[in-house]
This record gives sequence, C-alpha cells and structure tokens, in this order.
Amino acid sequence: MKNEYDIALVPGDATGPEVVAEAVKVLEAVSRVTNPSFRFQTFDLGGERYIRTGELLSNGILDELRSFDAILLGAIGHPEVTPGILEKEILLKMRFEMDLYINLRPVKLFAGVETPLKNKGPEDIDFVVVRENSEGLYTGGGGFLRKGTKDEVAIQESINTRKGVDRCLRYAFETCRRRNDKKKLTLCGKTNVLTYAFDLWQRAFKEMSPEYPDLSTDYAHVDAICMWMVKNPEWFDVIVTDNMFGDIITDLGAIIQGGMGLAAGGNINPEGVSMFEPIGGSAPKYAGKNEINPVAAICAAQMMLEHLSLQEGADRISRAVQKAVGEDLESMNAGRMGMGTREVGSLVAGYVENL
Ligand code: IPM
Ligand code: MN
Repeated sequence: MKNEYDIALVPGDATGPEVVAEAVKVLEAVSRVTNPSFRFQTFDLGGERYIRTGELLSNGILDELRSFDAILLGAIGHPEVTPGILEKEILLKMRFEMDLYINLRPVKLFAGVETPLKNKGPEDIDFVVVRENSEGLYTGGGGFLRKGTKDEVAIQESINTRKGVDRCLRYAFETCRRRNDKKKLTLCGKTNVLTYAFDLWQRAFKEMSPEYPDLSTDYAHVDAICMWMVKNPEWFDVIVTDNMFGDIITDLGAIIQGGMGLAAGGNINPEGVSMFEPIGGSAPKYAGKNEINPVAAICAAQMMLEHLSLQEGADRISRAVQKAVGEDLESMNAGRMGMGTREVGSLVAGYVENL
C-alpha cells in the first residue's frame, strides 16, 4: 500500500476554509497515528476568486486536479454572484468533467445528536443515498422558445442513458452488498408520471437484481419516500435515485440526521479521482466567527479515507466524531455546539490520536 497521498484542498468561500482547516487538522492527526501521510495542495476556487479575477474553473485546473488522489472541498457560494454561475461553472463542471457520476450521501444519526423525528434514534436513522450525479435534469438539456414574450416556452430535459443508469445501479447494488446485514436496496423514482425516465430506471433495476440474490429490492415513488423517511426511516438501507430526486431527498436526509452541519457527501468516480464535501453550503452568515460546525467536513474527510481504502484512519475518525458529538458537545442540533469550530476540530483530532 502506498504511503503518501496527495490531497487537493478546495476551501472555497465563506465558512468553507474554516471547516476545511479542521478536517485537515483531523487528517494530520490520522497521519500521526497510522501509516499514510498526506500532502495537501490548496486551490483557490469559488465566488471570492471569481469576483476578484473573473476566473471560474479552468481546464488547466481541472487537469491538475486529476493528478491528485482525492479532493476535499469546503463550500462554493457567494451572495454577490448571480445564482447559477458558480454552481454551473465550478461545482457541476467538476462533477461533469471529472465524471463524478455517483453522489454518495450517508444519512446517519449519531448517538447524542437531536433529530426532529419524534421517537426515532440512531438505530432507526442509518442509511445511504446513492444519487446519480452526471445526468437527469442537471445536464442543461433544453432551452427557451420566444423568451421574454407572452408565448414563452421553457424546456428542461431529463437525460437518462442506459449506460449512466446501469453504472449508478451497479454502484448502488455493490454498496448495498458491502454495507451491513440489512441488504435492502430501494429504487426511488416516479414511474407513475415520469413514464420514460423511470421506466428505463426500473427495467434496468429489475434486470440487474438477479445478480444480487443476497439483497432484497424495493421500489417507492419519490413523494412517498419523503413521507417514509420521516415516518419510518428504519426501513431504508440503501436508496438509489436520479440526480434531481437525490438532491431533494438528501436535504431531507441531512435534517433528520441532525442538520446540515453534520451531513457529508462524496462525489465519486469509482475509476478516477473523487471529491468529498460537507453538503451544507458556504453559510456566509457564520463566516469568520468560529461558529460553523466542522463535523460535516470532518465526516467528508472520513469518507475520503474510506474511499482511498485507508480503513484504519476512517474508523478512527468515525469513533472520534461519535465520541465528540455523543459526549462533549452540548447539542449538535441546528448549529449549536457549545464549542467553537476550532475547538471541535481539536477535540476530534485529539480523539483520533488517543482513542
Ligand atoms: C448539492 C447542491 C448542488 C446540487 C447545487 C449547489 C448545484 O444543492 O450538492 O446538493 O443541486 O447538486
Ligand atoms: Mn442539494
């Protein structure tokens, strides 16, 4: 196994750099107690830089990013930049150009964290969403006709290719097989209305499932999934779905696991370089106050290690986070931690070394 890993850091905007600094602190603790060491290189990307220089994400930078073992991103977003520009030209561009075709989003309630769901605990809220990350409504297919007139038409097309659907389903089946003993994969769609897109998804799903006789499979419409995630989250183990539905249900997932400050995700190319991020956004309101919760970014670093097969480091981070949120932090709900950003990072880093 190799010993040195090159990690590209994209701290980004507002609170992004603050949470990435804590994730790095934790990774440095990992490298002190386990074998691998990390070489970090920081890339200045985001709204701040765009305003300063007019640059977004160039092909040159994309090429550089491709030479790393993984990417850790803080947050991209700036209140003074028109919505859509940074999203499309940085985040989505990275996803598309690097073919990060899986968006893996665990929904896990740690012991000691408050969930808004009544009578539900850590044993009930523990599943992952496998969101297709390169197709669907996100490709930008469509356009306007007679824009700005009273006869205007706006078309936004959902692109679903057999290859794209198959590779996403494959990843979901494999993830489900490896994950735990529940072994249940749920396809989330809308076959009753989106009769082309989800017809393809459902056929592909049915054709693949005989290869996984050890798993049980299930199907639910996306609206019903939203209801079940609140009412019976314990039913889920792995949920696989398209890009748009995955975007929506993972915000719901984040809130039932205790909030955006705890939710991490991986933008994964199983054959290439992957990017890991807290999914909460840049939260400019909290920037520079040492108030933002760094746990999501630390969990993103944990996912990154798992992805790099650095299991001991990943396990150490999991245990450390669990102990910190379970025992030390006042309440991890809605951004209240009873401790500052840097203090939480140091606490978790300490546990990584000493647990
Ligand atoms: C997410 C975000 C992005 C998405 C936005 C910022 C483009 O909401 O990562 O879930 O819609 O995918
Ligand atoms: Mn989202």
